[in-house]
Amino acid sequence: MALLEVQNVSYSYEKNKPVLKNVSFRVEEGEHVAVIGHNGSGKSTLAKLLNALLIPASGTVTVDGFSSADKKSLFEIRKRVGLVFQNPDNQLVASIVEDDVAFGPENIGVKREEIKERIDFALSAVGMQDFLKASPMRLSGGQKQRIAIAGVLALKPKILVLDESTAMLDPAGRAEIAEVVKTLKKDGVTVISVTHYMDEAMTADRIFVLSKGEIIKTGSPKEVFSDRETLKAAELCVPLATSIADKLKENGVDVRGDVFTAEDLGAALCV
Ligand SMILES: Nc1ncnc2c1ncn2[C@@H]1O[C@H](COP(=O)(O)OP(=O)(O)O)[C@@H](O)[C@H]1O
Ligand SMILES: [Mg+2]
Repeated sequence: MALLEVQNVSYSYEKNKPVLKNVSFRVEEGEHVAVIGHNGSGKSTLAKLLNALLIPASGTVTVDGFSSADKKSLFEIRKRVGLVFQNPDNQLVASIVEDDVAFGPENIGVKREEIKERIDFALSAVGMQDFLKASPMRLSGGQKQRIAIAGVLALKPKILVLDESTAMLDPAGRAEIAEVVKTLKKDGVTVISVTHYMDEAMTADRIFVLSKGEIIKTGSPKEVFSDRETLKAAELCVPLATSIADKLKENGVDVRGDVFTAEDLGAALCV
Protein backbone atom coordinates (compact mmCIF):
# COMPACT_ATOMS: atom_id res chain seq x y z
CA MET A 1 0.00 0.00 0.00
CA ALA A 2 1.21 3.50 -0.86
CA LEU A 3 1.96 5.88 2.03
CA LEU A 4 -0.76 8.24 0.82
CA GLU A 5 -3.81 7.19 -1.15
CA VAL A 6 -6.45 9.61 -2.35
CA GLN A 7 -9.39 7.81 -3.94
CA ASN A 8 -12.24 9.51 -5.81
CA VAL A 9 -12.22 12.50 -3.49
CA SER A 10 -14.76 15.28 -3.94
CA TYR A 11 -15.23 18.29 -1.70
CA SER A 12 -17.56 21.31 -1.61
CA TYR A 13 -17.72 24.25 0.78
CA GLU A 14 -21.13 25.21 -0.57
CA LYS A 15 -23.90 22.97 -1.81
CA ASN A 16 -23.62 21.99 -5.49
CA LYS A 17 -20.34 23.85 -5.93
CA PRO A 18 -17.66 21.15 -5.84
CA VAL A 19 -14.14 22.58 -5.60
CA LEU A 20 -12.56 19.12 -5.93
CA LYS A 21 -14.04 16.52 -8.23
CA ASN A 22 -13.20 12.86 -8.13
CA VAL A 23 -9.50 13.32 -7.38
CA SER A 24 -7.39 10.17 -7.14
CA PHE A 25 -3.66 9.60 -6.75
CA ARG A 26 -1.07 7.73 -4.72
CA VAL A 27 2.17 8.95 -3.28
CA GLU A 28 4.89 6.49 -2.29
CA GLU A 29 7.15 6.92 0.72
CA GLY A 30 10.11 9.21 -0.07
CA GLU A 31 8.54 10.72 -3.18
CA HIS A 32 8.54 14.46 -3.89
CA VAL A 33 5.38 15.56 -5.62
CA ALA A 34 4.51 19.06 -6.78
CA VAL A 35 0.91 20.16 -7.16
CA ILE A 36 0.47 23.03 -9.59
CA GLY A 37 -2.68 24.85 -10.54
CA HIS A 38 -4.18 28.26 -11.14
CA ASN A 39 -5.62 30.33 -8.26
CA GLY A 40 -8.83 28.75 -7.04
CA SER A 41 -8.12 25.37 -8.67
CA GLY A 42 -8.44 23.64 -5.28
CA LYS A 43 -4.80 23.23 -4.20
CA SER A 44 -5.23 24.45 -0.61
CA THR A 45 -8.42 22.44 -0.21
CA LEU A 46 -6.50 19.36 -1.32
CA ALA A 47 -3.64 20.16 1.09
CA LYS A 48 -6.10 20.39 4.00
CA LEU A 49 -7.75 17.11 3.02
CA LEU A 50 -4.38 15.39 3.19
CA ASN A 51 -3.91 16.05 6.89
CA ALA A 52 -7.58 15.69 7.82
CA LEU A 53 -8.17 19.38 8.49
CA LEU A 54 -10.98 18.78 6.02
CA ILE A 55 -12.80 15.48 5.47
CA PRO A 56 -13.91 14.49 1.93
CA ALA A 57 -17.61 14.70 1.10
CA SER A 58 -17.09 11.52 -0.87
CA GLY A 59 -14.08 9.31 -1.52
CA THR A 60 -11.25 8.51 0.88
CA VAL A 61 -7.90 9.86 2.00
CA THR A 62 -5.72 7.15 3.52
CA VAL A 63 -2.38 7.88 5.19
CA ASP A 64 -0.20 4.99 6.24
CA GLY A 65 -3.33 2.83 6.36
CA PHE A 66 -5.42 5.32 8.40
CA SER A 67 -8.53 6.69 6.69
CA SER A 68 -9.68 10.23 7.51
CA ALA A 69 -13.26 8.96 7.28
CA ASP A 70 -12.64 7.26 10.62
CA LYS A 71 -12.73 9.80 13.47
CA LYS A 72 -10.46 7.62 15.58
CA SER A 73 -7.72 7.96 12.95
CA LEU A 74 -7.56 11.76 12.81
CA PHE A 75 -4.81 12.10 15.41
CA GLU A 76 -2.71 9.44 13.68
CA ILE A 77 -3.13 11.21 10.33
CA ARG A 78 -2.31 14.66 11.68
CA LYS A 79 0.83 13.27 13.34
CA ARG A 80 1.94 11.82 10.02
CA VAL A 81 1.12 14.74 7.73
CA GLY A 82 2.65 18.10 8.59
CA LEU A 83 1.18 21.12 6.86
CA VAL A 84 3.09 24.38 6.33
CA PHE A 85 1.19 27.41 5.04
CA GLN A 86 2.03 30.48 3.05
CA ASN A 87 2.59 33.13 5.69
CA PRO A 88 5.23 32.30 8.30
CA ASP A 89 3.99 35.13 10.55
CA ASN A 90 0.70 33.30 11.06
CA GLN A 91 2.45 30.10 12.05
CA LEU A 92 4.92 31.28 14.66
CA VAL A 93 3.54 31.27 18.18
CA ALA A 94 6.40 31.97 20.61
CA SER A 95 8.87 34.79 21.15
CA ILE A 96 11.91 32.49 21.18
CA VAL A 97 12.74 30.04 18.40
CA GLU A 98 13.20 26.98 20.66
CA ASP A 99 9.83 27.55 22.36
CA ASP A 100 8.20 27.89 19.00
CA VAL A 101 9.58 24.58 17.76
CA ALA A 102 8.72 22.91 21.10
CA PHE A 103 5.09 24.03 20.92
CA GLY A 104 3.85 21.19 18.70
CA PRO A 105 5.59 18.32 20.51
CA GLU A 106 4.50 19.75 23.90
CA ASN A 107 0.92 19.78 22.68
CA ILE A 108 0.94 16.13 21.72
CA GLY A 109 2.50 15.16 25.03
CA VAL A 110 6.06 14.36 23.98
CA LYS A 111 8.25 13.84 27.08
CA ARG A 112 10.43 16.73 28.21
CA GLU A 113 13.74 14.88 27.56
CA GLU A 114 12.67 14.03 24.05
CA ILE A 115 11.50 17.55 23.24
CA LYS A 116 15.08 18.83 23.44
CA GLU A 117 16.17 16.16 20.95
CA ARG A 118 13.32 17.03 18.63
CA ILE A 119 14.18 20.73 18.70
CA ASP A 120 17.80 19.93 17.80
CA PHE A 121 16.75 17.54 15.06
CA ALA A 122 14.19 19.94 13.54
CA LEU A 123 16.39 23.04 13.65
CA SER A 124 19.34 21.14 12.14
CA ALA A 125 17.09 19.85 9.34
CA VAL A 126 16.33 23.44 8.33
CA GLY A 127 19.85 24.73 9.03
CA MET A 128 18.73 27.01 11.89
CA GLN A 129 20.49 25.31 14.82
CA ASP A 130 22.37 28.51 15.67
CA PHE A 131 19.13 30.43 16.21
CA LEU A 132 17.84 28.48 19.21
CA LYS A 133 17.50 31.57 21.42
CA ALA A 134 16.68 34.05 18.66
CA SER A 135 13.45 35.99 18.40
CA PRO A 136 11.48 34.88 15.32
CA MET A 137 10.35 38.48 14.82
CA ARG A 138 13.90 39.50 13.96
CA LEU A 139 14.46 36.84 11.32
CA SER A 140 14.17 37.18 7.54
CA GLY A 141 11.12 35.75 5.73
CA GLY A 142 13.07 32.68 4.62
CA GLN A 143 14.39 32.08 8.14
CA LYS A 144 10.92 32.48 9.64
CA GLN A 145 9.51 29.97 7.20
CA ARG A 146 12.37 27.58 8.07
CA ILE A 147 11.35 27.89 11.73
CA ALA A 148 7.71 27.22 10.78
CA ILE A 149 8.89 24.10 8.92
CA ALA A 150 11.01 23.08 11.93
CA GLY A 151 7.91 23.41 14.12
CA VAL A 152 6.15 20.89 11.91
CA LEU A 153 9.21 18.61 11.60
CA ALA A 154 9.43 18.46 15.39
CA LEU A 155 6.26 16.37 15.20
CA LYS A 156 8.24 13.88 13.07
CA PRO A 157 5.77 13.72 10.18
CA LYS A 158 6.23 11.15 7.42
CA ILE A 159 4.76 13.57 4.91
CA LEU A 160 5.44 17.30 4.71
CA VAL A 161 2.92 19.34 2.75
CA LEU A 162 4.09 22.83 1.81
CA ASP A 163 1.13 24.93 0.69
CA GLU A 164 2.70 27.78 -1.30
CA SER A 165 5.19 28.10 1.53
CA THR A 166 7.55 30.13 -0.61
CA ALA A 167 4.94 32.49 -2.07
CA MET A 168 5.73 35.32 0.31
CA LEU A 169 9.51 34.92 0.16
CA ASP A 170 12.10 36.71 -1.93
CA PRO A 171 14.32 34.63 -4.28
CA ALA A 172 16.90 34.13 -1.52
CA GLY A 173 14.21 32.87 0.86
CA ARG A 174 12.84 30.56 -1.81
CA ALA A 175 16.32 29.15 -2.38
CA GLU A 176 16.63 28.48 1.38
CA ILE A 177 13.40 26.48 1.37
CA ALA A 178 14.48 24.59 -1.77
CA GLU A 179 17.65 23.58 0.12
CA VAL A 180 15.56 22.37 3.08
CA VAL A 181 13.36 20.28 0.78
CA LYS A 182 16.48 18.73 -0.75
CA THR A 183 17.78 17.74 2.70
CA LEU A 184 14.43 16.32 3.79
CA LYS A 185 14.20 14.24 0.62
CA LYS A 186 17.61 12.79 1.36
CA ASP A 187 16.34 11.88 4.83
CA GLY A 188 13.43 9.99 3.27
CA VAL A 189 10.65 12.48 4.12
CA THR A 190 7.84 12.47 1.58
CA VAL A 191 7.30 16.03 0.37
CA ILE A 192 4.25 17.46 -1.36
CA SER A 193 4.89 21.00 -2.61
CA VAL A 194 1.93 23.06 -3.67
CA THR A 195 3.42 25.85 -5.71
CA HIS A 196 2.81 28.33 -8.46
CA TYR A 197 6.52 28.60 -9.19
CA MET A 198 7.12 26.31 -12.13
CA ASP A 199 10.88 26.26 -11.44
CA GLU A 200 10.14 24.85 -8.01
CA ALA A 201 7.86 22.18 -9.48
CA MET A 202 10.71 21.27 -11.85
CA THR A 203 12.65 19.78 -8.88
CA ALA A 204 9.88 17.30 -7.97
CA ASP A 205 9.80 13.63 -8.99
CA ARG A 206 6.23 13.97 -10.23
CA ILE A 207 3.82 16.79 -10.89
CA PHE A 208 0.03 16.81 -10.55
CA VAL A 209 -1.74 19.50 -12.58
CA LEU A 210 -4.94 20.66 -10.94
CA SER A 211 -7.50 22.59 -12.97
CA LYS A 212 -10.95 23.55 -11.72
CA GLY A 213 -10.89 20.89 -9.05
CA GLU A 214 -9.67 18.04 -11.24
CA ILE A 215 -6.26 16.49 -11.81
CA ILE A 216 -5.88 16.88 -15.55
CA LYS A 217 -2.34 15.53 -15.83
CA THR A 218 0.22 13.57 -13.84
CA GLY A 219 3.76 13.05 -14.99
CA SER A 220 7.44 13.81 -14.61
CA PRO A 221 8.31 17.53 -14.74
CA LYS A 222 9.59 17.10 -18.30
CA GLU A 223 6.41 15.33 -19.39
CA VAL A 224 4.22 18.00 -17.84
CA PHE A 225 6.16 21.01 -19.11
CA SER A 226 6.36 19.54 -22.62
CA ASP A 227 2.56 19.33 -22.74
CA ARG A 228 1.74 22.91 -23.71
CA GLU A 229 -1.92 22.13 -24.34
CA THR A 230 -2.48 20.95 -20.80
CA LEU A 231 -0.60 23.92 -19.37
CA LYS A 232 -2.72 26.25 -21.44
CA ALA A 233 -5.92 24.56 -20.32
CA ALA A 234 -4.79 24.94 -16.70
CA GLU A 235 -3.71 28.56 -17.30
CA LEU A 236 -0.17 27.80 -16.23
CA CYS A 237 3.17 28.93 -17.59
CA VAL A 238 6.41 27.08 -18.26
CA PRO A 239 9.65 27.31 -16.23
CA LEU A 240 11.64 30.52 -16.75
CA ALA A 241 14.42 28.82 -18.76
CA THR A 242 11.80 27.29 -21.08
CA SER A 243 10.17 30.65 -21.78
CA ILE A 244 13.57 32.23 -22.43
CA ALA A 245 14.33 29.41 -24.89
CA ASP A 246 10.96 30.00 -26.59
CA LYS A 247 11.72 33.70 -27.02
CA LEU A 248 15.17 33.00 -28.38
CA LYS A 249 13.73 30.54 -30.92
CA GLU A 250 11.12 33.09 -31.95
CA ASN A 251 13.98 35.47 -32.65
CA GLY A 252 15.79 32.99 -34.81
CA VAL A 253 18.35 31.72 -32.30
CA ASP A 254 19.27 28.07 -32.76
CA VAL A 255 18.25 26.49 -29.43
CA ARG A 256 18.78 22.75 -29.52
CA GLY A 257 16.86 20.20 -27.49
CA ASP A 258 14.34 20.64 -24.72
CA VAL A 259 14.99 23.39 -22.21
CA PHE A 260 13.54 23.22 -18.70
CA THR A 261 16.33 24.49 -16.45
CA ALA A 262 19.13 27.06 -16.55
CA GLU A 263 21.55 24.15 -17.12
CA ASP A 264 19.53 22.96 -20.12
CA LEU A 265 19.57 26.48 -21.52
CA GLY A 266 23.33 26.75 -21.11
CA ALA A 267 23.81 23.41 -22.88
CA ALA A 268 21.36 24.31 -25.66
CA LEU A 269 23.23 27.49 -26.47
CA CYS A 270 26.73 25.99 -26.39
CA VAL A 271 28.31 25.74 -29.81
N1 LIG B 1 -13.65 28.37 3.35
C1 LIG B 1 -14.18 28.44 2.13
N2 LIG B 1 -15.50 28.67 1.95
C2 LIG B 1 -16.05 28.72 0.70
N3 LIG B 1 -15.33 28.58 -0.43
C3 LIG B 1 -14.01 28.38 -0.32
C4 LIG B 1 -13.37 28.31 0.96
N4 LIG B 1 -12.04 28.08 0.77
C5 LIG B 1 -11.87 28.04 -0.58
N5 LIG B 1 -13.04 28.21 -1.22
C6 LIG B 1 -13.25 28.17 -2.68
O1 LIG B 1 -12.81 26.92 -3.17
C7 LIG B 1 -12.12 27.05 -4.39
C8 LIG B 1 -10.73 26.43 -4.27
O2 LIG B 1 -9.99 27.18 -3.33
P1 LIG B 1 -8.53 26.78 -2.85
O3 LIG B 1 -8.54 25.34 -2.47
O4 LIG B 1 -8.11 27.76 -1.83
O5 LIG B 1 -7.71 26.94 -4.22
P2 LIG B 1 -6.16 27.32 -4.47
O6 LIG B 1 -5.39 26.98 -3.24
O7 LIG B 1 -5.77 26.48 -5.66
O8 LIG B 1 -6.12 28.77 -4.81
C9 LIG B 1 -12.10 28.53 -4.72
O9 LIG B 1 -13.15 28.80 -5.60
C10 LIG B 1 -12.36 29.20 -3.39
O10 LIG B 1 -13.03 30.41 -3.55
MG1 LIG C 1 -4.06 28.07 -2.04
